[in-house]
Amino acid sequence: MFDGNRRLQVMRAFVFLFLGSAGVVYGAEGPAAPTDLRCEYLSNPMGADVQKPRFSWVLHHTERAQMQTAYQILIAGSADGLARDGGDVWDSRKVDSSDSIQVVYAGKSLSSGKTYYWKVRYWDTAGNASPYSAAAQFEMGLLSRDEWKGQWIEGNLLRKEIDLQGRIVRARAYVTALGYYELRINGEKVGRNVLDPAFTTYPKRVLYTTYDVTRRLRSGRNAFGAMLGGGWATLGRRFFDPEVGPYYKAPALLLQVNIEFEDGKTVSVVSDGSWKAAQGPIVSDSVYDGEVYDARREQPGWDQPGFDDSTWSAAQTVEGSKGVLSAQMMPPIRVVDSMAPRSIASPRPGVFVFDMGQNMSGWVQLRVQGPAGTQVTLRFTELVYPDGMINRENLGEAKSRNIYTLKGQGEETYEPRFTYHGFRYVEVTGFPGTPSLDSLRGRVVHTAVGAAGSFVASKQILNDIQRLIHWSQLTNLFSIPTDCDQRNERQGWMGDAQATAEEAMMNFDMAAFYTNFIRDIRDAQFPDGSLPDTVPRKYGGVPGDLGWQTAYPLLCWYMWQQYGDRRILEENYDALKKYVAFLRSHAQDNVYRLHWEGDWVELAHTPGDYIGDVWYYYDVSLFSKMAQILGKSDEAASYGQLAGQVKDALNRTFFDAHTDNYANGTQTANAMALFLDLVPKEHREAVQRRLTDDIVYGHNTHLTTGFIGVKFLMPLLTSLGRSDLAYDLAVQTTYPSWGYMVERGATTLWELWQDKAGPAMNSHDHIMFGSVGAWFYNALGGINLGPESVGYQRIRIAPQIVEDLHWASASVETIRGTVSSSWSHSPGVITLDVTVPVSSDAQVVVPPEAQMTDVVIREGDRVVWENGRYVSGDPGVKAATQDGKKVVFQVGSGSYSFRLTGSE
Ligand code: BGC
Repeated sequence: MFDGNRRLQVMRAFVFLFLGSAGVVYGAEGPAAPTDLRCEYLSNPMGADVQKPRFSWVLHHTERAQMQTAYQILIAGSADGLARDGGDVWDSRKVDSSDSIQVVYAGKSLSSGKTYYWKVRYWDTAGNASPYSAAAQFEMGLLSRDEWKGQWIEGNLLRKEIDLQGRIVRARAYVTALGYYELRINGEKVGRNVLDPAFTTYPKRVLYTTYDVTRRLRSGRNAFGAMLGGGWATLGRRFFDPEVGPYYKAPALLLQVNIEFEDGKTVSVVSDGSWKAAQGPIVSDSVYDGEVYDARREQPGWDQPGFDDSTWSAAQTVEGSKGVLSAQMMPPIRVVDSMAPRSIASPRPGVFVFDMGQNMSGWVQLRVQGPAGTQVTLRFTELVYPDGMINRENLGEAKSRNIYTLKGQGEETYEPRFTYHGFRYVEVTGFPGTPSLDSLRGRVVHTAVGAAGSFVASKQILNDIQRLIHWSQLTNLFSIPTDCDQRNERQGWMGDAQATAEEAMMNFDMAAFYTNFIRDIRDAQFPDGSLPDTVPRKYGGVPGDLGWQTAYPLLCWYMWQQYGDRRILEENYDALKKYVAFLRSHAQDNVYRLHWEGDWVELAHTPGDYIGDVWYYYDVSLFSKMAQILGKSDEAASYGQLAGQVKDALNRTFFDAHTDNYANGTQTANAMALFLDLVPKEHREAVQRRLTDDIVYGHNTHLTTGFIGVKFLMPLLTSLGRSDLAYDLAVQTTYPSWGYMVERGATTLWELWQDKAGPAMNSHDHIMFGSVGAWFYNALGGINLGPESVGYQRIRIAPQIVEDLHWASASVETIRGTVSSSWSHSPGVITLDVTVPVSSDAQVVVPPEAQMTDVVIREGDRVVWENGRYVSGDPGVKAATQDGKKVVFQVGSGSYSFRLTGSE
């Protein structure tokens, strides 16, 4: 027999272990030391270039219903000073405030390159102080352009030797490239980043990474080496308009290593014309095409001191980028995992096809032994033909292959540096002998965002879809949110980005990533205020379709909602205003009519001018709300008024009061209008019926939307009280549905609802349909922001307990700490376990079955609801009210186990 409760317990234990609540040390009673200290969303960032960084921490307490009533931050210039409770840089003193997120630095002015040490304590509701947190640190980057002394230099391999005399106490490398770099010091790679720096609009902004290289350097002779690849900086010609690519003819390096000696002396090693350059083993590299590597051209010892570089030429200094140099303040791209192939087949003599068992992003490491000059070719695909040969049809123009030429010296291992692929299968040809499973090792590569959420439910198809979302989301994070990872796109398509951001923020720690991307968007804005379809701009229309441009206000808005980020709103306010002005200039009679994509990859066509106009309304009303939040009430009112006019014009133009349809009455058309509350009250019910009838009777409980419409549809159905129908769509396994993809063997989400494998557009790893992931957390898990609340200060836990589901469990590491919700349902009994972080409170909605009577609800051992009434006395539970059949509890922080019983 299925034992729901036990299963739930095991699962919860797993979720806890997995996400951890790292290092909480409780004293006997009372407030525990804060954990998870962040500076600008990052733990212990190196090279922060924000003058007034913001801090956040997570609170813990042994008792329920606890608030932070005050905090104290200490920041010191030395670890020892901080250990002695010194705050020579900033001692906030005791600040009466419940803010534990977005606390803005207010100490002495922060200096370039310096490391600061900080800790925090808090006072609870009763005024008891917690112990101080463990020490955290942050380090400033180079705060002004004048501090960069080096020059951009070109070359494939670059090297420089230098004598350093004395004991080195501190050394920092600041490094970036137009393209990609691998930095080496004294024979070893520096750091674990790959495909660094991030893809930006290089002429406007280049991001540098800071490394602590103190231990890499020694008194005496030292060698610095860099390998460069073209990355997105030189990619072009064959793919993009001349206007947007290639940005540069060849990759270039900019480096500065600041070294401090014990006696106070400082030395900087910088990239300049004194460096030497040579051609290395990488014969060619391209993000799309892959790498060609000839191991016979390796120059052993080139990155070590004492290497004879007399045949090398002087490095060429170039103008490089005149743009801003900014610190790369987000998680880097890394090899996050290694995977053994699942199987090998040999569909033809000499052709070996490895199956990784999972569509992934990255590359493989090759292990091979054979005569010098042997050429092994690896080709990467998502698909194979029925005969087992690889199917490259959906890769477009991307060659997606690596060619390795052996040097012939024992076992050789090779992995590429300056390319990546989206693939499940790897075809190996030219292999000397017969490869084994050990010959390849999969390398999973993407921006290394941390996990934030988990969602599991008793219905397996949901867990399968969640797994696909996970993979598709991660494999589409490459310093920007990309559309796909395999063909010659992999671009920051803004529509895909906005559609999936909420899902991404529930599943992963995305705050720093989107902070960076929003700045990328601002960099890409045109003088008239409009935005491209892709950021950085490479592909797509100018201006972009509104469903794509709208990523700008929407991502800002989600940052505000999820993380309480007011600064994002402040910093982008003027640029957003310009954007709205652009929209307005194209909205004669308050109707915006420029459109291209409309609802993309839809099954029933919805007119693009209608969709564009709905976005126009959405953007203007969001902008009005932002003005309100920033205290600009006049502008809030005038944009609010404009939104009203746009809404009226939209209803006049696109609503048919006779048929109760918007535009042509597709699911997308009616769902967007309902979601945004555009529908005149007296027609609401009728439009709802149009929508649900179209799903149930018109399409036998299937979707007809593209990825734009579906993002609205699922949460809308829940808000209409039709989670049952949303659920039926979510677990549907016949075409078109997410489950159809799972049943057809997908391991990542497809670009199209259809199962296609031909040359036409059909990536097998797109994240854009993954928006349903947010609905898993919000509706099935029940985790929501409270009404009018941001950053999970007020939470609403309202799981949608649908007939077919026995249990579901969701947990999110929010900016304020863990929020979790796990429920189970068996005849006559509903259990709901929730966790609310300290300093937050929650509405917890416990829904009885429709026909239940004599409802009793217990929390732990205590009765908290009986005879239709709240029973007080349970610690942390403050009140309960009835809302229809549902019982809504008000609770403070802590963990609660509700158990509802009743007769049927
Ligand atoms: C991309 C999409 C994108 C669309 C818009 C496609 O080629 O892969 O994800 O949003 O174009 O035009």
